[in-house]
Amino acid sequence: MAAPAPAGAAAAAAAAAAASPSPLQSAFAELVKSPSGLEKVVLRGARNCCVEVYLYGGQVTSWKNDNGEELLFLSSKAIFKPPKAIRGGIPICFPQFGTHGNLEQHGFARNRFWVIDNDPPPLPVNSAIKAFVDLILRPSEEDLKIWPHSFEFRLRVALGPSGDLSLTSRIRNTNTDGRPFSYTFAYHTYFSVSDIRILSWMFLSKTACSGCLSLTCAYYFISEVRVEGLETMDYLDNLKAKERFTEQGDAIVFESEVDKVYLAAPSKIAIIDHEKKKTFVVTKEGLPDAVVWNPWDKKAKAMQDFGDAEYKNMLCVEPAAVEKPITLKPGEEWKGRLVLSAVPSSYCSGQLDPLKVLQG
Ligand code: BG6
Repeated sequence: MAAPAPAGAAAAAAAAAAASPSPLQSAFAELVKSPSGLEKVVLRGARNCCVEVYLYGGQVTSWKNDNGEELLFLSSKAIFKPPKAIRGGIPICFPQFGTHGNLEQHGFARNRFWVIDNDPPPLPVNSAIKAFVDLILRPSEEDLKIWPHSFEFRLRVALGPSGDLSLTSRIRNTNTDGRPFSYTFAYHTYFSVSDIRILSWMFLSKTACSGCLSLTCAYYFISEVRVEGLETMDYLDNLKAKERFTEQGDAIVFESEVDKVYLAAPSKIAIIDHEKKKTFVVTKEGLPDAVVWNPWDKKAKAMQDFGDAEYKNMLCVEPAAVEKPITLKPGEEWKGRLVLSAVPSSYCSGQLDPLKVLQG
């Protein structure tokens, strides 16, 4: 599954692989058991870049940049015990997104055990990508009782040379009775961000002239985290019975619970985190929609597997196919891809920096 290893750090990993062989060990990918007892694949890239993928859910739970900084949110209260889905990372919603159907919320792919696929059909590959793993999910007898369709869901998770994370899903209809099937889908991506709330600041400035003291009071609203690319888009508001609205703001900022499905969203969306001086670029293919979700304080408290204050430092931006389900005839295959990159950014929003304003 991986090409020959470079010298150095890779040699150590190769030596470890030789010491305790497993079907997956290489310099770039290793199957390990987590403290919870669940198995995960660790992909290693240049310097400290690293990705972790649980076989349970086929779920990425960690993506670290070359400084070893975690880029995805994983709740400190996440439960690593089936049938609960893991709270954070990138759960896969299939064959149903949310409550758009009769299945359990977000479908069952996120709480099934996937297996490593050592011989997947070829994908167009970037030969520079050495660290990747292929997983596959097929329905069990029990799954067929709740969703009576035979399918093969192949997932490739890859860590690129510059630290980009990509997930490629290929879903094939393997029904033998001639029936098509339809599904909705999302990469439910939880990003780790600095405080998402709009902070309001009040400044008092004092001026004294000819014995008079004058006080000036000014309010400034600062948003450290904003999403760009979805302005002017139509969306279905899950908080208002899926009613359709048009986004009005310049960019999306956060001051309360948000649960929106943006329709026909662009193929690139940016999450700009001023505090961390970082921009996430989300690139999506085959997935027309994008869900934006933050539970805010009340829902956070109501979730057993989510810390009360954790909503402040997470944001879900989820490339998805929700409004128009995807239909596959027997033998047909669909492909949907997500590529995440994290790039350094400086203060660039149009918002006012109160200190600069005050200091003239
Ligand atoms: C989002 C949905 O994608 O996932 C929300 O839009 C939902 O409505 C959220 O609350 C979390 O879902 P769950 O099932 O993981 O708690």
